[in-house]
Amino acid sequence: MDTTTNLTDPMNLAETLQSLRTDSVARIGAAADIESLDAIAAAAVGRESPIAAARRGLGSMPPEERRDAGRLINEVAKEIEATVAARREELVAQERAVAIAGEAIDVTVDYSRLPNGRLHVIQQVLDEVCDIFVGLGYRIAEGPEAELGWYNFDALNTPPDHPGRLESDTMYLDYGNPEDEMLLRAHTSPVQARYMEAHEPPVYIVAPGKAYRNDTVDATHLPVFHQIEGLAVDESITFSDLKGTLAEFARQFFGPDTHVRMRPHFFPFTEPSAELDVSCFNCDGGESSCRVCRGVGWLEMLGCGMVDPAVFTAVGYDPDAVTGFAFGMGVERLAMVRHGIDSIRHFVDNDVRFLDQFPG
Ligand code: PHE
Repeated sequence: MDTTTNLTDPMNLAETLQSLRTDSVARIGAAADIESLDAIAAAAVGRESPIAAARRGLGSMPPEERRDAGRLINEVAKEIEATVAARREELVAQERAVAIAGEAIDVTVDYSRLPNGRLHVIQQVLDEVCDIFVGLGYRIAEGPEAELGWYNFDALNTPPDHPGRLESDTMYLDYGNPEDEMLLRAHTSPVQARYMEAHEPPVYIVAPGKAYRNDTVDATHLPVFHQIEGLAVDESITFSDLKGTLAEFARQFFGPDTHVRMRPHFFPFTEPSAELDVSCFNCDGGESSCRVCRGVGWLEMLGCGMVDPAVFTAVGYDPDAVTGFAFGMGVERLAMVRHGIDSIRHFVDNDVRFLDQFPG
């Protein structure tokens, strides 16, 4: 803007104000933020502006021209101020909208298409087995994974020189002093002793959980695996109760036509002891090429037996007043047999292509 123009000349004044109006209105409309809007407003109508200069010039104008000139200056100034005010409102609204968008949480975003997680197949089998026994009147019991040597071995009638006590078999947290040896339990059987110590008979429990052994990983071994322990103690429990209970479990888990058989075995904490086999649910013992039993017809399922009187004594039960049976099964083994899984490693590989095959 040429401020040297003589603004006391009405022609010059009108022209100057006219171009100031057009120029300012265009620049105000183009102002991108409030800061530049303020600068444009100051230049157009502020103290150093042509408007201010024109007002100062009014005094030296002939009185007959002064009124019209004054009115024109006011008119232009008002229009520019109104345009600035309108643009300011727009910019404030715009800046607020940007701030709100930046902080917004969109509560309408649809998350329903995220894939659902599911229970691991091992957890599914654990739940299923526990449900079967709960249906037979059993309760669920639990015990610690970091266990005293006493509960893992001594209370379970396991002699000091038993090979399972070696560090090559059992994972110790604190080894060597028999009084307070701490280990990662090698089976869920210590829950038997802990539960009997804390509860009077009768006892009907299953105890699911992890067990730890110093095993090298191969197709059938993991150093951390799962077991389900069973224990029934009452006044006149017999070996037939054990067999009948496990047969019922096998039929519910593998199918109504499943047969069971027992082979003599040894465990320190049961006498007599046995291993339970179930008839192959895939070929029912009929096919030499069966991929599940490899022609054997039977599948090794679990260890079991009648609770040894020495265990009753260790936990404070009267071995002349009660009898009982116990069993322990490997959950990974159950799942492998049931689903025809060829390596136990699949359970811990965390490959969703494997895990997705067990929707539960
Ligand atoms: N604790 C035994 C094992 O881990 C299984 C078992 C449990 C055997 C209860 C008999 C009774 O091999």
